[in-house]
Amino acid sequence: MPGILLGEVFPNFDADTTIGRISFHDFLGDAWGVLFSHPRDYTPVCTTELGRAAKLAPEFKKRKVRMIALSIDSVPDHLGWSKDINSYNCDEATETLPFPIIADPKRELAVQLGMLDPDEKDKDGMPVTARCVFIIGPDKKMKLSLLYPATTGRNFDEILRVVDSLQLTATHNVATPVDWKVGDRVMVPPTIPEEDAGKLFPCGVFTKELPSGKKYLRYTAQPK
Ligand code: BEZ
Repeated sequence: MPGILLGEVFPNFDADTTIGRISFHDFLGDAWGVLFSHPRDYTPVCTTELGRAAKLAPEFKKRKVRMIALSIDSVPDHLGWSKDINSYNCDEATETLPFPIIADPKRELAVQLGMLDPDEKDKDGMPVTARCVFIIGPDKKMKLSLLYPATTGRNFDEILRVVDSLQLTATHNVATPVDWKVGDRVMVPPTIPEEDAGKLFPCGVFTKELPSGKKYLRYTAQPK
């Protein structure tokens, strides 16, 4: 199945959306982007996910990340469904969400971007879209991709957390450890030799002693 690999330029597709026709790269401009796909409109898990995405939209905006969703239904369906999503969020039941939804009724983008879930079929026996997350950098290259089956909803707080890590590691030669969040210590990557680490991280490097005697578990403060 076709797909896009980390580091590849994300395709510059044209598509109909709830805010009109877009050309994807123009839509992104020089911002980061997050594209998240959904199996179908008017489905329960998707409604909770888009509701959470709408609530977190100000956080994505703060990080200069443009959000866009995709589902294999039409623009009129997306607009009607948006009312339900706003209502689920206890907001006014309008057709407006803080991000557009791409209409992909012929599943052309779903095929091009490797989004179909072969295990989940619609009533006509056609595969629906899986829950993909693509994070695209300002250079239009794919920085992260997640693929969940239709039956498992995503965690949008985790998506924000990885945006923080991606943006930090794009500008500083550090790596973020398990469960890292903004403000926590970061790790000195193994590619930095011991003799350079002190100069590169003047606020100090803590190296944890390990049974192997190897000095690879190195922490430093998060760069500003
Ligand atoms: C849902 O969004 O609830 C859903 C969609 C397709 C398969 C299973 C669940």
